[in-house]
Amino acid sequence: MGTAEPPEAAEWQAAPEATQPPPSSQPWLAYRQHFTFFRVEDEAVDKNIFKDCSNIAFYRRQKQQLSRKSMYRALLDSVTADRDSTRFQIINEATKAPLLAEVYGIEGNIFRLKINEESPLKPRYEVPDVLTSKLSTVRLTSCSGDSGSLVLADGKGDLKCHITANPFKVDLVSEEEVVMSINSLGQLYFEHLQIRLKQRATKENEEDASVDTSQENQEDLGLWEEKFGKFVDVKVNGPASIGLDFSLHGFEHLYGIPQHAESHQLKNTGDGDAYRLYNLDVYGYKIHDKMGIYGSVPYLLAHKLGRTLGIFWLNASETLVEINTEPEVKYTLTQTGPAAAKQKVTSRTDVHWMSESGIIDVFLLTGPTPSDVFKQYSHLTGTQALPPLFSLGYHQCRWNYEDEQDVKAVDAGFDEHDIPYDVMWLDIEHTEGKRYFTWDKKRFPNPKRMQELLRSKKRKLVVISDPHIKVDLDYSVYAKAKEQGFFVRNHEGGDFEGVCWPGLSSYLDFTNPKVREWYSGLFAFSAYQGSTDILYVWNDMNEPSVFRGPELTMQKNAIHHGNWEHRELHNIYGFYHQMATAEGLIQRSKGKERPFVLTRSFFAGSQKYGAVWTGDNTAEWSYLKISIPMLLTLSVTGISFCGADVGGFIGNPDAELLVRWYQAGAYQPFFRGHATMDTKRREPWLFGEEHTRLIREAIRQRYTLLPYWYSLFYHAHVASEPVMRPLWIEFPDALEAFGVEDEYMLGSALLVHPVTEPKATVVDVFLPGSNEVWYDSKTFTRWEGACTVKIPVDLDTIPVFQRGGSVVPIKTTIGKSTGCMTDSPYGLRVALSTKGSAVGEFYLDDGHSFQYVHQKQFLHRKFSFCSGVLINSCADERGRYPSKCVVEQIFILGLKKKPSSVTTHSSGGEDQPVAFVYCAKTSTLSLEKLSLDIGADWEVHVK
Ligand code: NOJ
Repeated sequence: MGTAEPPEAAEWQAAPEATQPPPSSQPWLAYRQHFTFFRVEDEAVDKNIFKDCSNIAFYRRQKQQLSRKSMYRALLDSVTADRDSTRFQIINEATKAPLLAEVYGIEGNIFRLKINEESPLKPRYEVPDVLTSKLSTVRLTSCSGDSGSLVLADGKGDLKCHITANPFKVDLVSEEEVVMSINSLGQLYFEHLQIRLKQRATKENEEDASVDTSQENQEDLGLWEEKFGKFVDVKVNGPASIGLDFSLHGFEHLYGIPQHAESHQLKNTGDGDAYRLYNLDVYGYKIHDKMGIYGSVPYLLAHKLGRTLGIFWLNASETLVEINTEPEVKYTLTQTGPAAAKQKVTSRTDVHWMSESGIIDVFLLTGPTPSDVFKQYSHLTGTQALPPLFSLGYHQCRWNYEDEQDVKAVDAGFDEHDIPYDVMWLDIEHTEGKRYFTWDKKRFPNPKRMQELLRSKKRKLVVISDPHIKVDLDYSVYAKAKEQGFFVRNHEGGDFEGVCWPGLSSYLDFTNPKVREWYSGLFAFSAYQGSTDILYVWNDMNEPSVFRGPELTMQKNAIHHGNWEHRELHNIYGFYHQMATAEGLIQRSKGKERPFVLTRSFFAGSQKYGAVWTGDNTAEWSYLKISIPMLLTLSVTGISFCGADVGGFIGNPDAELLVRWYQAGAYQPFFRGHATMDTKRREPWLFGEEHTRLIREAIRQRYTLLPYWYSLFYHAHVASEPVMRPLWIEFPDALEAFGVEDEYMLGSALLVHPVTEPKATVVDVFLPGSNEVWYDSKTFTRWEGACTVKIPVDLDTIPVFQRGGSVVPIKTTIGKSTGCMTDSPYGLRVALSTKGSAVGEFYLDDGHSFQYVHQKQFLHRKFSFCSGVLINSCADERGRYPSKCVVEQIFILGLKKKPSSVTTHSSGGEDQPVAFVYCAKTSTLSLEKLSLDIGADWEVHVK
């Protein structure tokens, strides 16, 4: 496509289908036409639709201004303090415009720094609804400081915030070590709201037009208007951008700020190559690129030996992040005389945040451990919602399953091929002309009957519900929303209209609590005809995607509830959509049932409402590979329930890629096969018997491990530990682990290294930890830690290793779906450490309701193996969930010698001898046909 320009706005308007919906019989064509016009093959094409830094006016302005080094001074004689915060003024030396800074201490070793204009022309946007209501402040005491500085300490005094007046700088000091400095590079930047010069000229001096000579320059800097292609963004509030720098002392490893199709460890950003946080619909996004895609979490973590930190930049407008690491330098000073002095300059990473508008509101999470930082972040934004158990099973999706017959046939296919699955998905074609909450009557004449079929196998249905609403007064959702003024408005005051799947559409304003309440109500069984309690929801296109909008999204000057411009809150739109949907599902069950909602767009805190996936990936090996770092990044920023489309959404995977993708997906938190319209059908049994067997085996491994997955999610929910963990979390002292992203830990017990190369015969697996041992989960081969081992692989192999010292609960019998496995027995895989011990946990509840909270209907057990005794004991006495299930199988890996006897001891019961098999070759003891109550105290003695 060469350097083709995007069509002019006028052309789009004139295009014959501009006000018509794409023909519903061929939606794929419309989609394809729409995207291929811009994208594919040629990079230059992408740059015509999506901005890079050079196209972003606030970036250009900040760069230009900062090269001149603006100076800020804190007026520390203006300090005032109350219970919650300490406040003082900051003055720009050149303009003398005053800013107001507020420093808060927040429970759990968190500092918050807010900087706003002291008296802005009108209020600036402060992101609501993200912070949990639990936040409580800690009184900071001013412990010393001369007139040029102020030292604030939290109650305990081991964390200090040292504020220097001139130039303004903040150092965060922990145990006498400066761990972070703020504004030490002088990049504090704040554009004060102002009246437009032209207007001022007109008002103040009508006859003197020369007052406005800088207009041309203003255009270049995009102060009041910004052009991109044929789009013009008119800014009624003018320039309002903000920025600040953070220097992290001794840190070289940073992670976070999803979503980018990039490595887990953040890279240095060159000129004009900042990480962009701006939620966009990027079909077949390019990998190894820092452009913004579907969601944004403006939060990053930094890790070094002995300390982990977090920076949470609470801002929902377009944001850019620059990263620059200065590595440690050791050099010898020869000038100092004959005895050469050695000097060491420690490494440092500078992070520069810039946002288009809003205020500076930043949270500094001081750790010191990774797990402390996870707790601190979830203290601010909430933890991962506990998913209903079914949603941890396998999901089968396609755009589209054509009709009820198709659904029935695919569902039967899983049973015929003995492959478990839990959820059937319906994409946009199930509706009447993309009118969500309706059914295409020809294709799905009896949705309840279809759901009853799924219910009979304890399976579920997920349907899509997008935020755009077809402009059609005969469509009740549209008519009601219009009548009540529930749509986002354009800057002229009418309903905003843009094109999406249904053709001309308006967009619900989910930032309005009334709209959310009303939308939630649409999921009531009485309102949503054809829905039943096994129907759950998928929120797509909620960046929001607007086909003919700038960068395929909404104009920044569209207007939301409270008169806020879209630019202020763009990145949080999808967050609100999922929030309202999840609330709707809870309400329809009268508060009893846990929701399941998958969203494409997200923001900090989205973990409270459900799952996230990585959007429109491609059926290529490189996309399979990058799914790992992309999911690790989401996981460390609070979003544990995440996944990538298995098989790749776009294109046709060959059998080998598809098998490898199932194998990888089976070990990723959200596990869904999905494919776009023009792809060949790819249900697991369509690639020949052998490949069917391999896919079956991968999915069955997922179901085998369900008790472990569920227990991990419980931990994510109550203790903020990510489910999928980069190695650096589990091995924070192993420098070699900090950059690893082709393998990861599931919880603390399993290390997974998916095969992501074609025709692989061997993979290099790094097994961390000098005191660790690892067991190949298939062959039980034992490996010492702190080395890289070559593992031979064939298409059957999923390299998974169990860490010595862990106990992993499993299911020993697989059913058609998770619901069919409720009563099936458990097994325990006990992998012994170098000391011959192991510990593990198990969590269980009814898998679907909130009874685990309200009635303490849960079971939380602890397993420990020490000195030849395996003990099952209670981990949480509050829990009382009756389970009839038994542990029927126990494998003990790494048992050096054959026992002479094995007996079980139950409280109140007699000691029972147990038959056992010992394999000297693999040092494995297996106990089968046991019948030990999973919820009761018992011991197994191995002598
Ligand atoms: C875009 C989504 O990313 C994709 O998963 C979905 O199939 C299409 N929209 C159609 O709804």
